[in-house]
This record gives sequence, structure tokens and C-alpha cells, in this order.
Amino acid sequence: MPASADRYIKSHAKKIPAGRRYLFHVTGECGWINDPNGFSFHDGKIHLFYQHYPYATHWGPMHWGHVTSTDFVDWTWHDVALAPGRGKGILGCFSGSAIDWGGMYHLVYTRAGFFRQEQCLATSVDGYTFVEAEDNPVIPAAPLPAGYSKVDFRDPKVWVRNGVVHMIVSDKIENTPYARLLLYRSTDLHEWKPVGTVLENGPALESKLGRMLECPDFVTVDGQELVIVSPQDVPGHPNKDGSVWIPGRLDDRSGAFSGWTMDDVRPLDCGLDFYAPQTMAMPDGRTILVAWMQSWNRRPVTSAFGYTGALTLPRELSWREGRLYQSPVRELALHHADEWIETIALSAGVPVADERLNGACQDLGLTFEDDIGTLTVTVFADDAGHGLELRVHDGSVTLDRTAVTQGLFPAGEIHRRAVAPCPAKGGKVRMRLVLDRFSCEAFLADGFAVLTATCLPGLRDDRVIIQCDRDANVTVVRHAIRAKGGSHAAQE
Ligand code: FRU
Repeated sequence: MPASADRYIKSHAKKIPAGRRYLFHVTGECGWINDPNGFSFHDGKIHLFYQHYPYATHWGPMHWGHVTSTDFVDWTWHDVALAPGRGKGILGCFSGSAIDWGGMYHLVYTRAGFFRQEQCLATSVDGYTFVEAEDNPVIPAAPLPAGYSKVDFRDPKVWVRNGVVHMIVSDKIENTPYARLLLYRSTDLHEWKPVGTVLENGPALESKLGRMLECPDFVTVDGQELVIVSPQDVPGHPNKDGSVWIPGRLDDRSGAFSGWTMDDVRPLDCGLDFYAPQTMAMPDGRTILVAWMQSWNRRPVTSAFGYTGALTLPRELSWREGRLYQSPVRELALHHADEWIETIALSAGVPVADERLNGACQDLGLTFEDDIGTLTVTVFADDAGHGLELRVHDGSVTLDRTAVTQGLFPAGEIHRRAVAPCPAKGGKVRMRLVLDRFSCEAFLADGFAVLTATCLPGLRDDRVIIQCDRDANVTVVRHAIRAKGGSHAAQE
């Protein structure tokens, strides 16, 4: 079905310059990507799809790109799974999810036109080619009652609960700027019964839940039920749009999600590039989350090389002490190389730039006492020592990418700097930096908070420099990452 897109992709992917791809983060083979879609485990493999416009480095009518992996690190590209076309809506196939049901593998997505969004189904026998359901749209917009928007009705996420398929989907409240999340239920993916409203935002919730809500998800992590959602136009949000987690309880009969207040709504990531996360369940019980490592109001970093957008490294979620924690998938350790563990003695104000710390693709853990004043780690540094800085001071970390913009990011705090809490535990501050050529994902205090940012360092700028304003000891656990490289093998 999408053969012409695939031909275009194969011929253009070759044009991306060597060394200008991420090593282990998912991107399109060429062109634009945004939200992760259909993140799932099917037939022994991890499947991940993404919103994709292969023909340019900007957004266009949406296809679903498709990659698979066995370890979340080495990915292989496949043919495009869904493409816009006759009866698909002029804007194409918007975000959605995947599910194994009735012995088949299914994608549930939004067919988007200018004036109508409706939920559709595509089914696969082999896991790679998808056939549209003849009765699409399986949830048409037409029967939505007055007050429900037919224009902004999108992003279905499906999961099985008590032997029944459930769907959470976003819908704008007509004649207001706000949105609600709806719950549907089905036993065959064709007939869907509306259950009720999961949550509804409005002026009283706007400071945390903004206006339109995109890409909702519902997940249970270590016994705690959570709604995850990406609110747009959050007043005062440095990026306008955010992504939050909300702990509560879902009532199966009414669909209502209760037991939470505004104080319980917390950001999934405090960095500069993170939006539209989606979760999946691994057979071993883990819940894994992945997000678009960019956002609508951020300047993308790799467009000059022929592709735009990447997905985050997938993260394991856990629920501890009444809070969501995130850590890099444990499979990253399967790709560790060149281990270096050492306690470095820093002298006040003297930068340490040991060659064994260098690397643009690495997993770098740092542990130090919490009373050492300000500690600065600079990564992707050039010979003059300028790079992406993480300044740890008084229980928080400030990320500053001003020196790795190459003129790309507009001046001003919100495009270049971000702050996250990093509470000490037992008197120790811990942070873990996952670097991949154009990205830094900083997991703070064992995943209590995360700061994700993209940047544009020079091709050879891979130095790491540590400095503290007092004498201090820093324990470093450093590994290079080896991976086959964004499934380049498929291209060669
Ligand atoms: C979120 C989003 C979704 C929509 C998709 C379109 O980033 O706006 O709501 O389905 O992107 O590409």
C-alpha cells in the first residue's frame, strides 16, 4: 500500500551525512517525525511506530513509520505501516496505539481531515503490513453529542482491562478552548461503546492542564493507576505545551478518574525537548515509556542533515514513595563498553577533563556529596571547553545549551535553559547522563526527575569537563555505548 513512500525513503536516506545520525535513538530514515505511536510488544519483538512525513523536514500529511527492536537500543526500519490516501483524511493518519487482540495485531489511529477527526482500525497478520478495516471509521465523529468536538477528537490509546479492550481518547469541549478525555470499551475493536468522561479540564485546571489535551494514556505502574497526557497552552510553561502524570483511580463503570488534585499533576520531564509520551507493557511486567524528543515550539536540531525529530531513549517506570520514577531501559547496559569507574578528586575551581570521560555516545553516572557548592558538568564540549552545561546547586540542576546552539535556538531563557529538582539522598547527589550525539537525557536522583534536551555540537565535540567551586570527590561510572546505529545496516 505505501510503496511510493518507501521508494522515496530508501533513495533519500542514503543522503544523510555520515556521523550525523543518532546512534541509538529512533529517527525517521529521512524527513520529519513527531509522536511515538503503537508502542507495543508483538510476536517476540518491540514494535514502535511514529508520526512521519518522509518528504520534507517539516510536518506534512501523516504516515506511520515503523521500527522494531529486541532491546530498545538497536532498531531496524521497516516499510511505512500507514500512509495517507483515499478515504484517509487529507491530513493523514494521526497518533494512536497498537494491540494484540483476537490473534491479530491491530493499529488504532485517528483519520484526520480539516474538519473531522475519527478513530480507525488497521489489522495485520504478519505484523508489518496493515489492512484498513472495511467499517472504518470504527468510531465516527457524527454520533458525538452536542458539546463534543468532531474537529479535535484524536489520539486513541488502547489497552486490555478485565478481558475487555479500553480506549482513552481526547476530545475538545465545543465552544471552549478546553478538552476532555473520553473512555470507550469494545470486545472486537469494531463496535465501541462510550463509557464516560475520564477527566475534563477547564479554567480551574488550566494552570496545570492547559487547554487542548493531546496523546492521553492510562497505565498501572506497580499498582498505581496513572493518566499521562500532553496539555497544550499551559500558562507560564516554558514550552507552552507539557506532558504530565496524574495518579488516581479509574472507575470502570463511569469512566471517571478520581482521587487527585491539582498538586498531584506533575511533569514527566523538565527539559527542553519532550512531548507526546506513550507507554507499553513488556511481557516481564515492566512499563516502558517513550516520547518525542522535541516539541511543537522548539527548533529541531538535525534538519540540515535531511531528517528532523527523534524519540527519547525508552524509560522504565516505577512507583516508589508515592511518586513516579523513570530510568533508562536496563537493556542499555547490554551496549556498555569501555567501562571506567573512578573517584576523581576535584580541586576548587580547577576543571578536570580526563580523556577517559570523553564521548558523544555514552552513559555517565556521577555521585557526590550534597554540600560541595556548585558542580558543573559540561558535555559535548569543544576544545575551548564550551558545551552543554549541567550546573548542580542546592538540590536542583540547571541545563544550559547556549554554547551548543550554532545559532539555531533563539536567544532567551526558554529555548536554552531548563531546571529540575535533584534532591540528595543519604547526603549524596546522583545523576546519570545518557548522551547520543545531539541529545542529553539527565536522570536525576535515581529518576526522581528527568531533564531532556537536544543540541547541535560540532562533529568532533565530545569532551566532558567537570568542575566544582569547592574541593570535592566525584565518583564516575562511565560507559561508552556501542550500537549498530539507527539501523543503518538496513540502508547499506
Ligand atoms: C501531538 C499531535 C497529536 C496528533 C499528531 C499529529 O504532537 O498534535 O495530537 O495526533 O500530533 O501529527
